[in-house]
Amino acid sequence: MRASRLLTLLLAGAAGAAIAAPQTGTPSDRAAALVARMTQAEKLQMVHGWWYPPTGIASPGMPGDFIPSAGQIDGIPRLGIPTLRETDASLGVANQVNERKDDVATALPAAIATAASFDPDVARASGAMIGAEARAKRFNVLLAGGVNLTRDPWGGRNFEYMGEDPLLAGTMAGAAIAGVQSNHIVSTVKHFVLNAQETGRMVLNARLGEVPLRESDLLAFRIAIDAGKPGSVMCAYIRVNGDYACENRHILTDILKTDWHYPGWVMSDWGAVHSTEKAALAGLDQQSGQQLDARVFFGAPLADALAAGRVPQARLDDMVTRILTGVIATGLMDDPTPATVQPIDDAAHAAVAERAAREGIVLLRNEGAMLPIAASARHIVLIGAHADVGVLSGGGSSQVRSVGGVPVEIPLASGEAASFARITWHDSSPLAALRAALPGARIDYVDGRDPAAAASAAASADLAIVFAWQWQTESEDAETLALPDRQDALIEAVAAANPRTAVVLETGGPVLMPWLQRVPAIIEAWYPGQRGGDAIAAVLTGTANPSGRLPITFPAAAAQAPRPVAIGLDLLHRRDAAGNAKSPLPGFTVDYPEGANVGYRWYQKTGATPLFPFGYGLSYTAFRYAGLKIADGKIGFTVTNIGARAGSDVPQVYVSAADETDVTTRRLAGWTRVTLAPGESQAVSVTLDPRVAARWDADGHRWVVPRRPSPLMVGRSATNPVLTGAVRLPAAPPLP
Ligand code: BGC
Repeated sequence: MRASRLLTLLLAGAAGAAIAAPQTGTPSDRAAALVARMTQAEKLQMVHGWWYPPTGIASPGMPGDFIPSAGQIDGIPRLGIPTLRETDASLGVANQVNERKDDVATALPAAIATAASFDPDVARASGAMIGAEARAKRFNVLLAGGVNLTRDPWGGRNFEYMGEDPLLAGTMAGAAIAGVQSNHIVSTVKHFVLNAQETGRMVLNARLGEVPLRESDLLAFRIAIDAGKPGSVMCAYIRVNGDYACENRHILTDILKTDWHYPGWVMSDWGAVHSTEKAALAGLDQQSGQQLDARVFFGAPLADALAAGRVPQARLDDMVTRILTGVIATGLMDDPTPATVQPIDDAAHAAVAERAAREGIVLLRNEGAMLPIAASARHIVLIGAHADVGVLSGGGSSQVRSVGGVPVEIPLASGEAASFARITWHDSSPLAALRAALPGARIDYVDGRDPAAAASAAASADLAIVFAWQWQTESEDAETLALPDRQDALIEAVAAANPRTAVVLETGGPVLMPWLQRVPAIIEAWYPGQRGGDAIAAVLTGTANPSGRLPITFPAAAAQAPRPVAIGLDLLHRRDAAGNAKSPLPGFTVDYPEGANVGYRWYQKTGATPLFPFGYGLSYTAFRYAGLKIADGKIGFTVTNIGARAGSDVPQVYVSAADETDVTTRRLAGWTRVTLAPGESQAVSVTLDPRVAARWDADGHRWVVPRRPSPLMVGRSATNPVLTGAVRLPAAPPLP
């Protein structure tokens, strides 16, 4: 009798009734218990997933309930394992593969703008907002958490990342990931690792020694993983020291899973898998977007390799255990995404986007306190960059079709590539926002295509504001740091006609500014997202006091950077006799001689004076730092607002590694963000992260923290010390 009841239950399970996972034990224990109940076919089903072709043309076998998005892996209802619905989500829920134009989402500013806020709360709130929207749209795996360090100022995806410093990037990305996952869904951290340029990303071999790799790009990932606990890590397209990142045993298994004890799963980037056995044995757990690879490597070929013993069964079980660990640890298993699309609070989410945009805007120059716009300004002319209707968006898989629509779109390709190759503007008009903020002023707009006409419109105005843009996109690096489209000439002409000229930059990273000395005020607004117009107007008028700080160095010339151009551009430009691009692009190597001295550390080491240093940003008020106290790795001092306006400041603490012979390369070891009324003082305390000054001891396989006190400075940027001292850093951080 009992046996037959058991049989009935088992049959019911096999027929599809959900049996919940055991609710107790660690996520890995619960995952392992589930795996023990899975068939081989079910396990194999979990380790490879679909890509939604932007044309909407289904491949045979594609899931019928696919929401147009980056990917899907069908769940196993009888075990309560949810279908994994993946969407890009770095800057909002990306939706461009969906042909439905009414599929919109809240577009945040570029990640580099979020990094510029130096405010982990902004990153967390932004991640939480994206996660809430994604969940309401029924997505549960978010391809977010871009934390590749900016090694080159022209990098095509710099705008999707968090800058050039491991502590800043790791902290901000970790906060964003934690925000996403607070919705009980999974976030990735990506692209593991050293994916520093877009040119030739499918074929290049990035070379960097173990020590500098651990002390730079890997450190950024480590900090992000510790802070955000992402359910999944996405491996990159590139080769790292010879092996493709997604079949690189050293980085996936030796470092990520063994040294760091990372419990979640490694998913591939879309089209980044090149093998079955090598990838599986190296530590790849899931092949994403399988149609983009040459084969479904983790389908039938993996089944064959398992049957023949070329891949141990334990490896497949580990792959699935890791996927389920990520699903359980984030809460997704116990709190599945809704069965139907839920309403979204667009207004509340837009406020999150606007806060991020405001805090990320950096005031680069303000001679004669030309900004904020004086109350006496009666006639203002806005010029260029479609500032009458919107603000620029970056391109590629992270792009969001925003609430409000697309006032300007420049298509660059047709067919399948079309959705990823178009220059678009979000519907957020700086002109309308300024008119609303300054109802007493006459504010005109001219498009700037004719510099002479723009100059003549500007000549009689109280203030001219040129909006300048540089579009960056995934899969391409900028070929020059100069503004495109003869915008330098436009700015020169306007500044010559009216010395009261300001420039608002909408760029994905640094640009050269040959007109700098002739333009008294400059703000860097990055790609400011769907409330960018309002945020720019708030900063221009002083409703918001600018408090963003540069998360990357702006070089004075491309030649100051470690490489003068993206390596491989020459190969990309090869033409055959008929003038067509030669393909395929051959493999090539990129060396990183700057090692761990990325960004500002490179400029310090080479003695170059950049245009604007890392950490730099002006304010409409002024702050004094005093009373440095150093105890137990904690730095205390007092910040006072000595100006006439309320505002936020970002004092930064840099240390030099005392045991090195070269103590010039300061590293950001901590910072704080403080908001003060005029005259107000606040005692602040900054805890230092010893890893930033530690050396990786390859022989001992551990971090070594300097024994002698390390020189320290509290500064306004990487090159502007205010208080100095020395600190004995806390003991070595947990291994390794
Ligand atoms: C990008 C990833 C993205 C994936 C899925 C790839 O081209 O490199 O960042 O998550 O596509 O859209």
